[in-house]
Amino acid sequence: MTKKSTNTVLHHASISRADREVLHAHKSAILWFTGLSGSGKSTLAHAVEYCLYKMGVSTYVLDGDNVRQGLCGDLGFTDSDRVENIRRIGELAKLMTEAGVITLTAFISPFMTDRDIARKLVPPGDFLEIYCLCPIETCEQRDVKGLYKKARAGDIPFFTGIGSPYQAPKNPELIVNTHEQTLSESVEHVINLLVQRGLIANYNE
Ligand code: ADX
Repeated sequence: MTKKSTNTVLHHASISRADREVLHAHKSAILWFTGLSGSGKSTLAHAVEYCLYKMGVSTYVLDGDNVRQGLCGDLGFTDSDRVENIRRIGELAKLMTEAGVITLTAFISPFMTDRDIARKLVPPGDFLEIYCLCPIETCEQRDVKGLYKKARAGDIPFFTGIGSPYQAPKNPELIVNTHEQTLSESVEHVINLLVQRGLIANYNE
């Protein structure tokens, strides 16, 4: 990004992130779901959010298809547009972390470098990368939105996994085999991770 915002001065908030975490009675963090289209990122993020909501945790899901209706509606699917998409989401998720919220992001986010840039925007430990692992054959079989069919027919250029690459995470905090586990098993794994990391209290206690 070329920075054009000159002559700006940072104003420090009088209520800190720590104050907000006390108010909410849990830590804030970013749960960064990544994976192919149709791998279950949005389904899992929303199911985890529902579980956290019932536990009284303040959350928000940023979802690729939704965010591209507005904030990122000017971006397409070239490599540079995807880089900008993920840069904006990383910055937004960082702000939401400062607001004391657990933010769940569900974007393909195909490039490792961009995910790492987003990770480094927040203090170590506050960014949990969750890889929704599902073979492309299964995603294509599901084809919930009919997009793989269109991509195979040549109607969607740069479709991830077909005309554009997906770089799998090397060292994610969690791998969820969405094609082998039930949704509730996957949710449980994510919730357990949050408990292990001390972000939320143990829900069994
Ligand atoms: S990302 O690559 O920039 O992270 P993002 O998660 O925002 O992508 O959007 C992906 C969603 O956009 C897909 O789930 C699909 O519904 C839609 N989409 C439309 N065109 C493409 C494309 N060329 N590649 C991948 N997804 C696409």
